[in-house]
Amino acid sequence: MNLTVIGTGYVGLVSGTCFAEMGNTVTCIDIDATKIQKLEEGIIPIYEPGLEAMVKRNFTNKTLRFSTKLSENLEKCDVAFIAVGTPMGDDGSADLQYVLQVAKEIGLHMTHPLIIVDKSTVPVGTADKVKETIQEELNKRGLNISFDVVSNPEFLKEGDAINDFMKPDRVVIGSDNTEAADKMRALYSPFFRSSVDRLITMDVRSAEMTKYVANAMLATKISFMNEIANICELVGADVNKVRIGIGSDSRIGYSFIYPGSGYGGSCFPKDVKALKKTAEEHGYTAQLIKSVEDVNDNQKLVIANKVISRFGEDLTGKTFAIWGLAFKPETDDMREAPAIYIIKELVKRGAKINAYDPKAMEEAQHFYLKDIKDVTYCNSKYETLNGADAMILLTEWKEFRSPDFEELKQQLSSPIVFDGRNQYNDERMKQNGFEYFQIGKKS
Ligand code: UDX
Repeated sequence: MNLTVIGTGYVGLVSGTCFAEMGNTVTCIDIDATKIQKLEEGIIPIYEPGLEAMVKRNFTNKTLRFSTKLSENLEKCDVAFIAVGTPMGDDGSADLQYVLQVAKEIGLHMTHPLIIVDKSTVPVGTADKVKETIQEELNKRGLNISFDVVSNPEFLKEGDAINDFMKPDRVVIGSDNTEAADKMRALYSPFFRSSVDRLITMDVRSAEMTKYVANAMLATKISFMNEIANICELVGADVNKVRIGIGSDSRIGYSFIYPGSGYGGSCFPKDVKALKKTAEEHGYTAQLIKSVEDVNDNQKLVIANKVISRFGEDLTGKTFAIWGLAFKPETDDMREAPAIYIIKELVKRGAKINAYDPKAMEEAQHFYLKDIKDVTYCNSKYETLNGADAMILLTEWKEFRSPDFEELKQQLSSPIVFDGRNQYNDERMKQNGFEYFQIGKKS
């Protein structure tokens, strides 16, 4: 099929590239001319394993193109995906201005029947708004062109996005028109070798809701475990053992029950808030969802509070080595990363920070921590340690999992480790002479 993907952010770029990889002809559109030029040169704006090679391969094969001109590309396309951002508005709801702007552009330029797909995460009812906006423009032009608006939310995870897209657990297609749904099924069926029943078709509103509910459910599992971790610590239990104990129940499962420094990233914080807001707009107070958010806000500072309990309220003259800045491994994304909150709290109390992250240092230095002067960015994890009072692990990158503990001990001024992701074995750390603090187990 001939596809147009509007928006070359995370979702748009990965989706467009993967559709091209599957044999479609794809044009990715963005209003940012510099970004488009860079993409044409093979320069990818985000770090995502496997993406760069796939973009370059499909660009060379001419199955993937980049352009700033939506109007030209609409003329020859079968399906147009809206994959622009839906940032959090001031009141916590999803800001739809970019989605509706694209809808307007589509209405202004479309010349033949088209399927328009909402790929961005959008609140229930957005497909109707997109439809109205397009129709309004067509009316102004005096044209009667049929079109369908389909909801097709994206469930990919950063760091594993290509894999998630190429081998999805499921694809959700929300459509109120069987013809459009069939066309979407045809587009996605090559991604499922056997279980085509994982291609789930439903009405538009249920599909829009599904995305928020999936993210809110996962965020709930995480906040629940973080709350349990805090209780475990108080009663002298070990959350790592409790996690294995409950995960072995197939009704509960092992995934997304890892306690840590709270969830971050571009999706969970924003989508949990937006779902709460949607409920509110319909006169319902979503108490559980609100608590999920509250628990997460507190959890981000649990490690900072442990540092304060150990070193005192005033951290003047102390230096901490931070391992990991990104909100999770295999990404350079710093959005809502616990590291931002923890570093700000420690610096506010007079501490100096030596930080290292394999991929997210530029993002941190130039955007998310740009106003924080007391952070030194180091070239390696060991470089952060020199004379530091303790090491604080905040992102579970593979290269932090099994470090040279002797070197760690020698370089730190005292062998103290705060582990915000429970990466090390408590007993072994103690045997090696470390004072070891983790989440959900009293040290
Ligand atoms: C998430 C969803 O997984 C994905 O389906 C959706 O499309 C977008 O949002 P992503 O934000 O990329 O993806 O990351 P994910 O791997 O889900 O992790 C989100 C956050 O939860 C991270 O901060 C991670 O550290 C945290 N997390 C995850 C935990 O604290 N514990 C866990 O057990 C799992």
